[in-house]
Amino acid sequence: MAKDKTIFTCTECGGTSPRWLGKCPACGAWNTLIEQVAEAGPGKNRLSAPQGYAGLAHAQPVMPLAAIEAQDVARTPSSIDELDRVLGGGIVEGGVVLIGGDPGIGKSTLLLQAMDALQRAGLPTLYVTGEESGAQVALRSRRLGIEGSQVKLLAEIQLEKILATVEATQPAVVVIDSIQTTYSDQLTSAPGSVAQVRECAAHLTRMAKGTGIAVILVGHVTKEGALAGPRVLEHMVDTVLYFEGDTHSQFRLVRAIKNRFGAVNEIGVFAMTEKGLKGVSNPSAIFLSQHSEPVPGSCVMVTLEGTRPMLVEIQALVDSGGPSPRRLSVGLDKDRLAMLLAVLHRHAGVACMDQDVFVNAVGGVRISEPAADLAVMLSITSSLRGKPLPKGFIAFGEVGLAGEVRPAPRGQERLKEAAKLGFSVAVVPKANAPKKPIEGLTIHAVERVEEAMNVVRGL
Ligand code: TYD
Ligand code: MG
Repeated sequence: MAKDKTIFTCTECGGTSPRWLGKCPACGAWNTLIEQVAEAGPGKNRLSAPQGYAGLAHAQPVMPLAAIEAQDVARTPSSIDELDRVLGGGIVEGGVVLIGGDPGIGKSTLLLQAMDALQRAGLPTLYVTGEESGAQVALRSRRLGIEGSQVKLLAEIQLEKILATVEATQPAVVVIDSIQTTYSDQLTSAPGSVAQVRECAAHLTRMAKGTGIAVILVGHVTKEGALAGPRVLEHMVDTVLYFEGDTHSQFRLVRAIKNRFGAVNEIGVFAMTEKGLKGVSNPSAIFLSQHSEPVPGSCVMVTLEGTRPMLVEIQALVDSGGPSPRRLSVGLDKDRLAMLLAVLHRHAGVACMDQDVFVNAVGGVRISEPAADLAVMLSITSSLRGKPLPKGFIAFGEVGLAGEVRPAPRGQERLKEAAKLGFSVAVVPKANAPKKPIEGLTIHAVERVEEAMNVVRGL
């Protein structure tokens, strides 16, 4: 096949160059030029036409919004409940889903299970594997207990061949595992480069929109994030799901970061078992480590991710540090930790200036909501003083720079979930205090950080 002409475009300013250069000749930024297929023919990119546009293209009909029939999207449930939950109900016709996550977290496993379920439900599927051979995928399917699976498999990494096969076999759902191994003949860049990843994803998205075939792209996220590519795809696709969780623990979370067909921040919870991923329908207590007696530096919070409240243990370790003490957090925002330490010092008189502070959300879960603030602060003070919080204790609430404790959304639901799991003492923002008492739960409503510290000291 004849190669189309390629150009190099700067991701910062849009400047172009016929050759790759380390520095953009237009804006001077370094390492921003990426390869793209040049649009063929003259005038394609013309921005202004002094003689008017009529000669260049036909005018298109327009319609008032009210005259357009609003259609609800057709979804096919994958019959894996936790996956359907994050997808917003199921696979959407012509929808493009990106599933990202660290290597080995279970992307291929989940998708193979989902494809098999869809195929059994009567939807023709195609699984394109570029990372593993057909034999390897078959081996996994035996392990998953889906012998006799009718999922069609294609071991191929060249985009043009994949598209031709899709056209010939007409599946309803295609999985591309992974987008980083796929490459197009039209570009000279190596597979996995930003240019290739973007070009391939753009072709597949266009194919999905044009044919109504649902496409699921698998993407790897490396520690650096950007170079692996999936980040540049986020704006192209309809739905972005990310796997989180610790590969060493059994539990995996799939979170919807973006969803044109459903709610964002919804999470699906799975357990990795001998026979693949199994949905966990009641995940509220899986992120607690089971201490027989309370230990210093541990505080349980109730987080509300999507529609379900979950209890998560926050652990802190405060230890005397060197000349430049470290602040490290796993699963929580590092900048927020620095802010909370400053608030703790200024408003509650708890100083950690010369101390290393480590904070961790148990089980590899990532907590982005500020309602974790109070639990982070209480676990830090508990570790600093070497004094455990009482048995059955929970806390949640956002903390502001002025030392005020702000309410968390849907506080009642959080408290009820904690009571259901046998927690007996709670420190919560005043505005979250329930009007009617909750059975078995003593609630201390606080307005300020220092008040929360005093309550805890007196327990
Ligand atoms: P995989 O789906 O290959 O991860 P990814 O595609 O995200 O790179 O699966 C990764 C891990 O899951 C692998 O270490 C083995 C484990 N695993 C199980 O524990 N049970 C199973 O049934 C399967 C298929 C895999
Ligand atoms: Mg894989």
